[in-house]
Formats: sequence, C-alpha cells, structure tokens
Amino acid sequence: MPKALITGITGQDGSYLAEFLLGKGYEVFGLARRCSTPNYGRISHLLDKIEIVDGDLLDTGSLIRILSEVKPDEVYNLAAQSFVAVSFHEPVLTGEITGLGALRLLESIRIVNPKIKFYQASSSEMFGKVRETPQTEMTPFHPRSPYGVAKVYAHYSTMNYRESYGMFACGGILFNHESPRRGLEFVTRKISDGVARIHLSLKDKLVLGNMDAQRDWGFAGDYVKAMWMMLQQEKPQDYVVATGETHSIKEFAKEAFKTVGIDDWEKYVLQDERYMRPAEVDLLIGDCTKAKKELGWKPEVDFKNLVKMMVESDIQLLKK
Ligand code: NAP
Ligand code: GDD
Repeated sequence: MPKALITGITGQDGSYLAEFLLGKGYEVFGLARRCSTPNYGRISHLLDKIEIVDGDLLDTGSLIRILSEVKPDEVYNLAAQSFVAVSFHEPVLTGEITGLGALRLLESIRIVNPKIKFYQASSSEMFGKVRETPQTEMTPFHPRSPYGVAKVYAHYSTMNYRESYGMFACGGILFNHESPRRGLEFVTRKISDGVARIHLSLKDKLVLGNMDAQRDWGFAGDYVKAMWMMLQQEKPQDYVVATGETHSIKEFAKEAFKTVGIDDWEKYVLQDERYMRPAEVDLLIGDCTKAKKELGWKPEVDFKNLVKMMVESDIQLLKK
C-alpha cells in the first residue's frame, strides 16, 4: 500500500486530497500543528481512516522525525499561511511558513530519503501583475504580495532541489479553486455565505473590497486530482492547473444572488476600503494545455455549478 504524507491536512485542499488518495488505496498521514481547540472540521469524517502526526513547517526537527517514522512514498506540501490579505499584515511569518517552510521540507526529504516524491502547492498568485495573458508555465513571475513572493521562493526551491539533487519534485501552479470547504475569509465563500444569510433573512448586507478583480475559479475537488497525477508521471515537472475562464468578483456575486432568485443584487452589496489590498492582482486566467495533454487532466465543474454548489451548501449549513 503506498503511503502519502499531506501537510495542510486540516485545510480545504488537504481534506479533498486525503479523500482522493484514500480512494486510490493509499495509507494517508496528515501533518497538523498543535491547536488549543482541535480544528478537524474538514476532516472529521476521515479521522478513523487517516493518521494525524504532530508537526509544523516552522520546526525542521519535527519534519525529519515525521519523515523517518512515516516513511512516505509521496509528500504533498499544502501547508501555508495562504490568505493574501493577512500576508500584508504578517509578512515575516508568511515568509517563514509559506516560503522557508517548503525549503525546510525539501531539505528534510533530501536528508531522510531523496527518493520521496514531492508536490509543492505553487500558486497563480506568483504571476501577480501579469506579463502575458493567459498565463502558462513559461510566463514570468511578478508577485504582488508577501504571500506571492513567498510562493515564488518555494517554487524556485522546488525546481532547485529537482535540478541539484535529481529529486522528484513538482510545482503545481494552481489557479484559484474553491468549494463549500473554502475558508470564510476568501471572497467566494464570503459571498456564498453572505448570500445564504441574506436569503434566510439572517443579515441584510454583504461588504466587499475590490469587485473588479478577475479570477480563474475552479473546483478544489477537481484540482487535487491534478496534484496526484503530477507525481505519477515519468519525469517531475511543473504544471499550470486552471479552467481557462475568468470572472470578476462582481460576476461571482451576481451569479450567487441569482441562485436565490435575487436580480437587483447591487442593493445588498457595499464596498469598504478595509478589504482593499496595498497592491492588487487584477487579472488571472490560466492556460492548462500542458496539464491536459500530459496528465490527461481537465476541470469537471464549471463556474455556474461551482457558485450554485457553494451557495446551496451554505444555505443547508445555516439551516442546520
Ligand atoms: P488553507 O485552507 O488555508 O489550508 C492551509 C493549511 O496549512 C491548513 O491546514 C493550516 O493548518 C496549514 N498550516 C498553516 N501554517 C502551518 C504551519 N506552520 N505548519 C503546518 N501546517 C500549517 O489552504 P488551501 O486553500 O487548502 O490551499 C492549500 C495550499 O495550496 C496552500 O499552500 C495554498 O497557499 C495553495 N494554493 C491554494 C489555492 C486556492 O485557490 N485554494 C491556489 C493556489 C495555491 P491550520 O488548520 O492549523 O491553520
Ligand atoms: N478575501 C476577500 N474579501 N477578497 C476580496 C474581497 C473581500 O471582501 N472583496 C474583494 N476581494 C478581492 C481581492 O482583492 C482579490 O482580488 C480577489 O477578491 C480574490 O481574493 P481571495 O478570495 O482572498 O483570493 P486570492 O486570489 O487573493 O488568493 C487565493 O488564490 C490564490 C491563487 O491565485 C488564495 O487561495 C491563495 O492562497 C491562492 O494562492
């Protein structure tokens, strides 16, 4: 039975990836950091099928110990301080976790067993102020946040360990992917939750920041498959994973309100400077031709169905 270690198991992607790998017959281990209150909400249905190991990307010793004890065949590094807005408030911590954290893990793998296959959760946020549209594996990076800068560091570290030590290390450059398990602070979930609350008369306004930014949004459940596919190839490489469609925050909000039969949606939405960022990523749209051709991957859930899935799930959740 192959063994996989997932860092970031308590996050959105960690939960979907764990489900996917269990379905493929893997023994799944999840690295989780200590919390005063357990935060296993997204993986509570999996706790009897996976093993949680205590560790932290800030603590190299914990990584070496876990790799030595678990002896994984594959490591998926999904752990990060992943919220762009907070990275402006906590830039050093974001650099430590999201940037250096990946390097600590790569170096620990090199020391313990360089044959372990490694997946790095790279991000379209690395393209930032985009140099070309759509963005491919060859598009130069121009990060616009401490988070984006840290992800570029982690991405180049992954390439460097592949080239220096022949390690099987891949960077998946994933565009935004969402789901009912998305954190409430991210704009899609903030909107789906807000719309559900307005629909149920639990609140009357939704307050957002820059509504003109455009994102290439896919479904997280589709995207974790691409992570696994990358590690099953003959050669380690980097791949863009995206839908190839882009929509503004306004369009997302309009579609979400439409799901509950509200057409005059602008009446319910306010804008507040508080949610604006010091530097913005205006437009992301990915070209995943390489992933389609070489991995045989394609997105299954389209924009409208993603929005509907999220709003309906939040309505059910609030009714409970
Ligand atoms: P998420 O929901 O924010 O999950 C992040 C995970 O990292 C959580 O499990 C968190 O644990 C863990 N973590 C944070 N700091 C840690 C530390 N010091 N040591 C160990 N674990 C730590 O993020 P996601 O949406 O699932 O994304 C997964 C990965 O893909 C992230 O690296 C993200 O940056 C990247 N990415 C995401 C997207 C997207 O659109 N979702 C796109 C491109 C790339 P706690 O629960 O304890 O906080
Ligand atoms: N969070 C948030 N809250 N964003 C808002 C709001 C708001 O109230 N109003 C407008 N926005 C805009 C942001 O300014 C940004 O342009 C866009 O909505 C998306 O913001 P987020 O949902 O926070 O995601 P992100 O694109 O910054 O980052 C996500 O995607 C990256 C991949 O490109 C995260 O998942 C990153 O971890 C990931 O790497």
